[in-house]
Amino acid sequence: MSRFFDLVTKPAREIGGYEPGVPTRSVAPEPHLIRLDSNENPLGPSPRAIEAMQRALAETHAYPDNDCTALAAKLSELHAAPTEQIMVTPGSTGMISLLCHTLLAPGLNAVTSEKSFIVYGMAVRATGAELIATPTKNDGFNLAAILAAVNRNTRLVFLANPNNPTGTLLDANELDRFIAEIPGHVVVVLDEAYFEFAAHFAERRKVEYSRSLRHLGQGASVVVLRTFSKAHGLAGLRIGYGLGPAELLSYCRRMQDTYSVSSVAQAAAISALDDDDHVTRSVSHNAEQASSLSTGLLELGFKVTPTWANFIYCDLRQDAAAISQRLRAEGISVRPLGAWGAQNCIRVSIGTAQQNEKFLDAMRQIPPTTSSQSG
Ligand SMILES: Cc1ncc(COP(=O)(O)O)c(C=O)c1O
Repeated sequence: MSRFFDLVTKPAREIGGYEPGVPTRSVAPEPHLIRLDSNENPLGPSPRAIEAMQRALAETHAYPDNDCTALAAKLSELHAAPTEQIMVTPGSTGMISLLCHTLLAPGLNAVTSEKSFIVYGMAVRATGAELIATPTKNDGFNLAAILAAVNRNTRLVFLANPNNPTGTLLDANELDRFIAEIPGHVVVVLDEAYFEFAAHFAERRKVEYSRSLRHLGQGASVVVLRTFSKAHGLAGLRIGYGLGPAELLSYCRRMQDTYSVSSVAQAAAISALDDDDHVTRSVSHNAEQASSLSTGLLELGFKVTPTWANFIYCDLRQDAAAISQRLRAEGISVRPLGAWGAQNCIRVSIGTAQQNEKFLDAMRQIPPTTSSQSG
C-alpha cells in the first residue's frame, strides 16, 4: 500500500485518529466562529495563571522540573494525599495513555461504556489491547454490565464521571458497591475531568457527587483523574494529573516521556489552583447557562439529558450530522455524535450567554420532528 504500512505496528495501522472539534484553528483561525464543540471554558484562562505564564516565559531556555515538584506538593496539600500518589501529566489524557502503556498489552483488555470518552478506545488500542464497551443505561454507565464484562484479561476499567458526551453522573452508592466487587487484578480509573462543574451542580442539587479520593485513601485500586483544561481554562497548555496507588504510579513514571510537562504549564497550574475566583465564576456561569440552554432546547421540542458538566447532550430526533453542518454554515460548531453511535444527537458545549443565545437562535430555524427514533 505504501512504504511504511508493513513496517508500523498493527495498532498504528488499525486505530483511527482523534478528530478535534475545529481542526485548523491555529493555521486558519476563524475569529467569528462560535466554538461549542470541545467543552472549553468560555470565560478563558485563569487570569492568575496568565500572569504566572508571563513570568515563566523568561525561563523557558531551561528544561522543566521533570517531577513537577512544586505542583505535586501543592496538590498533595489540596487533596491530603502523599506526593507519591500524585502524577502530573500532559493533560489527563496523558495519564490515560500512561496507564494503558503500563498495564495493557495484546491479549489484555480494558472495559468502559459505549457513548463515553473517545480517547479511552484510542489509548487502549494503541497498546494492541482490546476495548470492551458495554451498552449504556439511561444514557449513562451501566455498572452491572461493566462488572459482568470484566474477565481475567481485564486490567483497566474507565468510568467518566460525569460522562462525556452524555453528561450523566454515577450514583455514589452504586459506585461504592462496584469498587467493593471489582476483582483485585483490575484498576478502576475514575475520570473526573469535569470535577469542579459536577461538584457545583451537586451542591445546588443536594446530591453527593464523588467519594473517589476516599476510595484511594482506603487502598482501593483506583486512579482518579483531574485536569486544568476545564474549570481552570487551560486546555491549550496540556496539564492534568492522576491520583493513584504509589506503587502503580511508580511504574507509570518509568513509562513517562522525559520533560513531558512544560515549565510554563507547571507555573500556570500552580497559580490556577490559587485562583478560586476564576473557578467559582466559571462553575456558577456554567450552571446558569446550562439551565437557560437546556430550557431553550426543551422549549424547541428537543430531548435534553440533564447535565453535570459543561456541555449538553441533546437528541434532535433527526440526522444530527446534517444539522451540525447547517449550524457550521452559520458560524457555530457543535459535535454531532454519529461516531458514538448516536446519529440523532449532538453535544453542545456551554458557551457565553451571547454564544448560547446565537446557538438557540440558529436552532429555532430547525423544525423539530415528531419521530421517536432517538440516537
Ligand atoms: C471525560 C474526559 N476525560 C478527560 C478529558 C481530557 O482532558 P485533558 O485536556 O486533561 O486531556 C476530557 C476532555 O474532554 C474528557 O471529556
